[in-house]
Amino acid sequence: MKRLALLGAGGHGKVVADSALAGGWDAVEFFDDAWPQRQSNGSWSVAGDSATLLARLREFQGVIVSIGDCSLRWNKHQTLQAAGAPMATVVHPAAVVSRYALLGGGTVVMPGAVVNIDAFVGEAGIINTGATVDHDCRLGDAVHICPGAHLSGNVQVGHGSWVGVGAAVKQGMILGERVVVGAGAVVVQSVPDGLTVVGNPALPVSARKT
Ligand SMILES: CC(C)(COP(=O)(O)OP(=O)(O)OC[C@H]1O[C@@H](n2cnc3c(N)ncnc32)[C@H](O)[C@@H]1OP(=O)(O)O)[C@@H](O)C(=O)NCCC(=O)NCCS
Repeated sequence: MKRLALLGAGGHGKVVADSALAGGWDAVEFFDDAWPQRQSNGSWSVAGDSATLLARLREFQGVIVSIGDCSLRWNKHQTLQAAGAPMATVVHPAAVVSRYALLGGGTVVMPGAVVNIDAFVGEAGIINTGATVDHDCRLGDAVHICPGAHLSGNVQVGHGSWVGVGAAVKQGMILGERVVVGAGAVVVQSVPDGLTVVGNPALPVSARKT
């Protein structure tokens, strides 16, 4: 029996649980640091917090941090990994991941998403519903490509960056670390570390005309 532990009992966690069960895991169990206040997550109960999970690690064949926030997800991922947790990957059966693509531990690929040939996705990544990551893209750790966002070929995305819902990134662009691409943005220039860009063409939030 393949049992998956999920740390993070919110909406994103529910989608990861659903994808995991559809993708071949037999059972999922939720943990959340808001326990005991948080007792359930949709169809599932919450069994305890991070400490409970660490104490019960041997019961699980896989562990995933199912928290949307990139920085928090990465912190928890590292803590669990350091404790020897078997960080899993989850791919929904309705996603397409090329046999020539690589996914790091703790990464999830949601329904309708595509990860194309020679793409590389680091650890603790989220390729969310209907997002596409095209050929030769290189994504660092703790990256989130939000629902319906599209990365053309050869795009690089640095550690902890996220690309908002419905955004599009032109081929060959380099997004630095901790970059935020706003919902619906069209990125046609590379983006340095730490910047938030919005609009079409995407510009720093601070540089927008009023
Ligand atoms: C870009 C974003 C992070 C900015 O959030 P924020 O720092 O809280 O910024 P604010 O909401 O205060 O907006 C600042 C300004 O940028 C504008 N703005 C914000 N997001 C924008 C977007 N996606 N496109 C165009 N303009 C945007 C706001 O209208 C506001 O303009 P104003 O100064 O003229 O009033 C956020 O709006 C966004 O797009 N998040 C993506 C959400 C998403 O994809 N969620 C999916 C989860 S799975």
